[in-house]
Amino acid sequence: MACSPTRNPFSHTESPAVGVSIEHLSKKFGSMQVLKDISFSVDPGEIFVLMGPSGSGKSVLLKHIVGLEQPTAGRVLVDGRDASLEDTREHVHMALVFQAGALFNSLSVYDNLALYPREHQVADEAGIREKVMRALQILSLENAAQKSPSELSGGMKKRVAIARALVMEPQLMLYDEPTSELDPVMSATISEIIATLKDEYHVTTIVVSHDRELALGIADRVGILMGGELVSLGTPAELKTPKDPRVAEFLYPKIDLKNPRFKKLET
Ligand SMILES: Nc1ncnc2c1ncn2[C@@H]1O[C@H](COP(=O)(O)OP(=O)(O)OP(=O)(O)O)[C@@H](O)[C@H]1O
Ligand SMILES: [Mg+2]
Repeated sequence: MACSPTRNPFSHTESPAVGVSIEHLSKKFGSMQVLKDISFSVDPGEIFVLMGPSGSGKSVLLKHIVGLEQPTAGRVLVDGRDASLEDTREHVHMALVFQAGALFNSLSVYDNLALYPREHQVADEAGIREKVMRALQILSLENAAQKSPSELSGGMKKRVAIARALVMEPQLMLYDEPTSELDPVMSATISEIIATLKDEYHVTTIVVSHDRELALGIADRVGILMGGELVSLGTPAELKTPKDPRVAEFLYPKIDLKNPRFKKLET
């Protein structure tokens, strides 16, 4: 995929998209091996969706990319720099939208968004206001600016978390379950926002999600983690008819009342 300079939605400066390379990544917590020899790369400007059952290691993998976890073996390169040896966030603007949002309830929505640009003095207050209001507008949240996150619905909190990530002017955007707990229309809206950011601004995007519609609808490629191993890597079209029975069962589970998956209670 081509790596062309692109205009950032907020700073209007030229910022080249960045690639991510996962090389033989393994992670253990004590004796529990959570990631097992994982290798794949994400091209600059690509949308890569990582799927997998609960507990398969998706969030742990994302945390390695932003340097919040250190590999037991292998390495993660962000724009060619080893995330375990240096703080790649000093070189690459990246934003992680956490699974639970991680918003500050003591601050208004506006101040949650303004926190990072104020701390990093990226602009004067008028400039920050412009960036914050633009992000709120993109996510249809203008009317929520003065509210506390605790007053918002789950879907609105998700959108605030994405808006806050946008004001960081990311070259690399990471989302952990951006559509969980959302209604189908809001999920589709979030998927469209993610795809628009990639198409218009060439932001490299990694999305962790269980949402099959999102993965098939917006991904350039989809990886599937199971038990800490990457068991499938391919295009959405290839996933419509998965060859691996484990992947087929995960993506298209059939409800079978004659042979239920749960163990029946002994009487
Ligand atoms: N800091 C930690 N210390 C010990 N174990 C951890 C830690 N973080 C994650 N784990 C374990 O690693 C495994 C994978 O966790 P992870 O959060 O990556 O799962 P996930 O695929 O994101 O699941 P979900 O879809 O439910 O969010 C789990 O068994 C979890 O308990
Ligand atoms: Mg998770």
